[in-house]
Amino acid sequence: MATAGKIIKCKAAVAWEPNKPLVIEEIEVAPPQANEIRIKIVSTGVCHTDLYHLFEGMHKDGFPAVLGHEGAGIVESVGPGVTEFQSGDKVIPLFISQCRECRFCKSSKTNQCDKGWAVDRHDVMASPETRFTCRGKKVLQFMGTSTFSEYTVVNTIAVAKIDPAAPLDKVCLLGCGVCTGFGAAVNTAKVEPGSTCAVFGLGAVGLAAVMGCKSAGAKRIIAVDINPEKFEKAKVFGATEFVNPKDHSKPISQVLAEMTDGGVDYSLECVGNVAVMRSALESCVKGWGVSVLVGWTDMHDFAARPIQLISGRTWKGSLFGGFKSKDGVPDMVKAYLEKKVKLDEFITHTMTLDQVNDAIDLMKHGKCIRTVLSVSPQ
Ligand SMILES: NC(=O)c1ccc[n+]([C@@H]2O[C@H](COP(=O)([O-])OP(=O)(O)OC[C@H]3O[C@@H](n4cnc5c(N)ncnc54)[C@H](O)[C@@H]3O)[C@@H](O)[C@H]2O)c1
Ligand SMILES: [Zn+2]
Ligand SMILES: [Zn+2]
Repeated sequence: MATAGKIIKCKAAVAWEPNKPLVIEEIEVAPPQANEIRIKIVSTGVCHTDLYHLFEGMHKDGFPAVLGHEGAGIVESVGPGVTEFQSGDKVIPLFISQCRECRFCKSSKTNQCDKGWAVDRHDVMASPETRFTCRGKKVLQFMGTSTFSEYTVVNTIAVAKIDPAAPLDKVCLLGCGVCTGFGAAVNTAKVEPGSTCAVFGLGAVGLAAVMGCKSAGAKRIIAVDINPEKFEKAKVFGATEFVNPKDHSKPISQVLAEMTDGGVDYSLECVGNVAVMRSALESCVKGWGVSVLVGWTDMHDFAARPIQLISGRTWKGSLFGGFKSKDGVPDMVKAYLEKKVKLDEFITHTMTLDQVNDAIDLMKHGKCIRTVLSVSPQ
């Protein structure tokens, strides 16, 4: 590679400050250091967590940054000591690492690796270290990945090597939304065959949760959203019933309890709203109901009456669907290639990186499931 060892100047969408459109800029991407690789990003999805940081979290130390964390690309060059990857490998950068050595990686109970940006930086959503500069300023790598850039540098503990046959403009969705929702149902809730589930929020994360419930053998999957335009799509992934909270004057938990003789076995919150988290918990049946928080928010406390848990419900959370990232993503790519999980059906729009602000607007107004941006030619 002619570019190996050199700074690459390339195009990226920079979020200079919160609540403002991203700006397409030329940035400088330093060569990978020890145990890092530089990746040419081919495609990226836009996930609600990008919008969360830009419009909701808005942490003052989290800007300027290059957003994007749901991408796929090709290794351009590798840093000193890297033997696991070679230039030309197809890869998916991971916002949650798997170092295989820490206490958490060694436990089969969790995917919470103790390395990477996520340790103590959930509010800022980036590590202070970055390989990006723009106009002489340091630019942060959002969630350690920054896929709204033609090139990015990632530590090898946060990259999955995937099947060379994988179409990058589809499998990019496994970098976040689809693994998150699917895994939340299968790995975290551990949905059982014959069960009744409710999924709150039908973006890509919620629809992937619906797909996970179906794949685990759920009998009834109740899809809940305040935007009825999402219901047709939810059918494609296996939802059997649809509820719009706006159509009811009573609390949604009561509506679901009446539909299910006392509550659902599993509920998944895929919105990122603490009031919905409470409703999802209260929609579970006493005795054994399990409710999983998937939606991302770090701004407000949540609340519930203790009796909800005392009477036998379990409240859990799920990051990246509970998948150990380096192991899980290649497996999910394989499952897609074997037609065991859907990806194409999530993609409602395709655009170029230059149109990233249009893609953000579509999501903000509930007009898309996923927009996939083409970032660099393959
Ligand atoms: N835990 C994780 O690892 C992880 C990973 C990715 C995304 N997320 C989070 O998951 C959530 C969903 O992401 P997405 O990309 O699918 O977002 P999205 O914006 O595409 O979808 C959100 C959906 O929620 C619906 N909604 C909003 N308010 C609602 C309400 N009161 N009741 C029911 N439905 C409501 C919207 O109409 C929309 O369909 C976000 O909070 C995102 O930050 C978490
Ligand atoms: Zn995401
Ligand atoms: Zn680890």
